[in-house]
Amino acid sequence: MTDLHPFTHDIPADRLPALLRAMPKAELHMHIEGSLEPELIFALAQRNGVAIPYASVEELRRAYAFTNLQSFLDIYYAGASVLLKEQDFYDMAWAYLERAAADNVVRTEMFFDPQTHTARGVAMQTVIDGLHRACGDAEAKLGVSAALILCFLRHLSEEDAFATLEQALPFRDKFIGVGLDSSELGHPPEKFARVFARCRELGFHLVAHAGEEGPPAYVWSALDVLKVERVDHGVQSTKDAALMRRLAQERIPLTVCPLSNLKLCVFPDLAQHNLGQLLDAGLVATVNSDDPAYFGGYMNENFIQTFAATGLTAKHAWQLAANSFEGSFVDAPTKALWMERLGACFAQFAGR
Ligand code: ADE
Ligand code: ZN
Repeated sequence: MTDLHPFTHDIPADRLPALLRAMPKAELHMHIEGSLEPELIFALAQRNGVAIPYASVEELRRAYAFTNLQSFLDIYYAGASVLLKEQDFYDMAWAYLERAAADNVVRTEMFFDPQTHTARGVAMQTVIDGLHRACGDAEAKLGVSAALILCFLRHLSEEDAFATLEQALPFRDKFIGVGLDSSELGHPPEKFARVFARCRELGFHLVAHAGEEGPPAYVWSALDVLKVERVDHGVQSTKDAALMRRLAQERIPLTVCPLSNLKLCVFPDLAQHNLGQLLDAGLVATVNSDDPAYFGGYMNENFIQTFAATGLTAKHAWQLAANSFEGSFVDAPTKALWMERLGACFAQFAGR
């Protein structure tokens, strides 16, 4: 690992949870629809007169027992069906942004899935306006820098993705990039080669889910065919030594989501998660919450549970926070400012 902060050795292990909570960090992989808590799903269902097939918040929460990615996605898309109005999208995003601020997230790059909403007759403008208004308020009222990344659903066709891009282009100043999510197996990155090429021409940042459940070959094609700047998840990369060398050499960030991987049975338990292996191999790995309402934890919970289970230390904490700033889509002076704040936080914990 490079760029070790000099104070990390002075921070005792029992101070680690407090340090993880206090350190400034960026979240680079979360789906805003995955922040819908059961209570808000029920409140919005009532407000909008939408029927949901669960009798209570408790019954809905009990359904969150997933065996793989698809078993989660089925419930996740059903939950999003309560979102109809601009205010609904605002309320959902605002609730997440308040939680992010409480976790000392200073920057968040939030995914949204417009096709989940436009397929139900919700206008693209309704979705983007509500989310974007919450991003503006986050900066003004919470001091959190927030941006949006539009994700194409990979179980749908590339033609559908092109149509979605077309619908979103009138609002292109309100999102900074595009991504690729939903069912990975059987839907390789190559399926979206042309639409990603178009988005590249348009100047959007490019990311894609790859190597969550899918093979290392999907990570290679996300890099070589889609030309992504970051890989979302990417944890299967450890199965391919040449890929690991490439990711480290090119400093391609991996946006890892430990509690998501646990809940979707990508790893049998957190102690066997490969985050430490990724960091020790010099990859720009980061920690993120993915779908926090469904996977049992926002950012700090992901850090605290993963560190407790795997024995990661203060030096890893510093590296993860530094990686999150390096991997974020902000300008260099802003990154430098957040790195200074990170250093000040560690110095305080080291008693300097
Ligand atoms: N959409 C929401 N969460 C996702 C995940 N973990 N993988 C793929 N698509 C998603
Ligand atoms: Zn994801």
